[in-house]
Amino acid sequence: MEVSWALIIALPIVLAAGLKQEPYKPDWASLDSRPNPDWYDKAKIGIFIHWGVYSVPSFTSEWFWINWKGNPTPSKGQQKKINDFMKSNYKPGFSYQDFAQDFTAEFFNVTKWVEIVQKSGAKYVVLTSKHHDGFALWPSKYSFSWNSMDVGPHRDIVGELADAVKKSNGLHFGLYHSLFEWFHPMYLSDKANNYTTNSFVKNKILPELMELVQKYKPEILWSDGEWEAESSYWQAEQFLAWLYNSSPVAKSVLVNDRWGRGTLCKHGGYYTCSDRFNPGVLQTHKWENAMTIDKHSWGYNRYSDLEDYITPQELIDTMAETIACGGNILINVGPSKDGKIPPIFQDRLYEVGNWLSVNGEAIYGSRPWDVCQNDTTTPKIWYTTDSTGETLHVIMLRWPASNVLYLACPQTSKKSVITMIGTKGRLEVTDKHILKISLPDKAVVKTNYAWVLKITNISSP
Ligand SMILES: *[C@@H]1O[C@H](CO)[C@@H](O)[C@H](O)[C@H]1NC(C)=O
Ligand SMILES: *[C@@H]1O[C@H](CO)[C@@H](O)[C@H](O)[C@H]1NC(C)=O
Ligand SMILES: *[C@@H]1O[C@H](CO)[C@@H](O)[C@H](O)[C@H]1NC(C)=O
Ligand SMILES: *[C@@H]1O[C@H](CO)[C@@H](O)[C@H](O)[C@H]1NC(C)=O
Repeated sequence: MEVSWALIIALPIVLAAGLKQEPYKPDWASLDSRPNPDWYDKAKIGIFIHWGVYSVPSFTSEWFWINWKGNPTPSKGQQKKINDFMKSNYKPGFSYQDFAQDFTAEFFNVTKWVEIVQKSGAKYVVLTSKHHDGFALWPSKYSFSWNSMDVGPHRDIVGELADAVKKSNGLHFGLYHSLFEWFHPMYLSDKANNYTTNSFVKNKILPELMELVQKYKPEILWSDGEWEAESSYWQAEQFLAWLYNSSPVAKSVLVNDRWGRGTLCKHGGYYTCSDRFNPGVLQTHKWENAMTIDKHSWGYNRYSDLEDYITPQELIDTMAETIACGGNILINVGPSKDGKIPPIFQDRLYEVGNWLSVNGEAIYGSRPWDVCQNDTTTPKIWYTTDSTGETLHVIMLRWPASNVLYLACPQTSKKSVITMIGTKGRLEVTDKHILKISLPDKAVVKTNYAWVLKITNISSP
């Protein structure tokens, strides 16, 4: 029985070593216990970039292929539009794959992209490494001849952007990745077997995800295309345990919640819940509002008119509401096939950036105010506090009539000082029952869209 003595001595050491190396187990309870890296909550604002073969037709949306050729199509209306478009503009027999050679990217300039992101005030970037059409924006070993090195740009888009973002001052790098691929034969075969087989996950998705992570070391992995199958089919828990325990980004990486049917708003890192999720009340779990500047499309749509894009006011309204309720906002732009971020997107982003250059302290590193997120008295007021919770930021999205602001939620103390960011001097409270604050004349303020009052030493009611 020498063996058992050896075991008794060795076992605790093995266990301890095991625990040290593998803090996370491949189950949701363990994975969900991992805290998000600190930087993310402070960053507040990111830029989402949807770019791929769908940017070539750039018509309807990034769902072009499935809306056209899906059997059944997700949308009969879109299918008719696309059929008419193809008939009028392309030879019979032209396929979706044929668009790839026209994905030219001749003006793709990562320096310019990073410049645009920095001017927007965003602190992270998330690029679609692969959307539901399966086209990889990097030379993937697992996407032979259907990637940006073999066809189209003949460039490693993910690699170029990863390098530029990482070299930039203070930006974080993230990658979007779709689990399912509409037309991949292996996926369709697993699907036909009711997901009792998983050759697509074993041979395509897991190797490809590991390749992405090892090669480009993203700080965010923004998963999508999960909803048709359970997370057990996707082996999401096994993958995340590897990602958190032994991948090269084990310490720094952050993921979202799209890892299989039923994981949305429930498992993973931060919650995205639904596209354009914006609950209007404080959430208990960290979340992100992934939204678009083109109201109807994530990929570039050449057919969109000015009224199809949200206005700077709408964008800043959405940002304030999102941040006040504990979210981050991920603002989507769709570059054109040549690699330009069209000026309409630049305009919206620069308006946000200009606003933040004055009022950023109400956003970056701020915390939601647990007392009230908005106020009933004046329409369009959202609150945040500084990191200590002692100074309140009143984000005023409309200028009140007669330069007088009424607030029902905050209570001031004798020590409170009220100022407006970007102007000099204190503001006076003329009625404490319901805070009645006299504002300076609107003519003296420099920014548009929204104004921020700071109230120090607030007392909780
Ligand atoms: C890329 O963009 C940067 C920044 O705007 C610019 O300085 C540079 O000239 C551009 N490069 C090319 C090849 O256009
Ligand atoms: C898949 O499941 C559906 C409904 O549960 C059933 O009708 C179908 O026969 C199943 N198909 C296979 C291939 O097992
Ligand atoms: C905050 O806004 C939401 C909707 O935007 C509204 O239902 C709610 O009543 C507001 N809360 C307060 C305190 O005004
Ligand atoms: C007022 O708040 C500031 C921080 O915002 C704090 O440093 C200071 O101690 C507070 N003053 C009092 C008297 O509470």
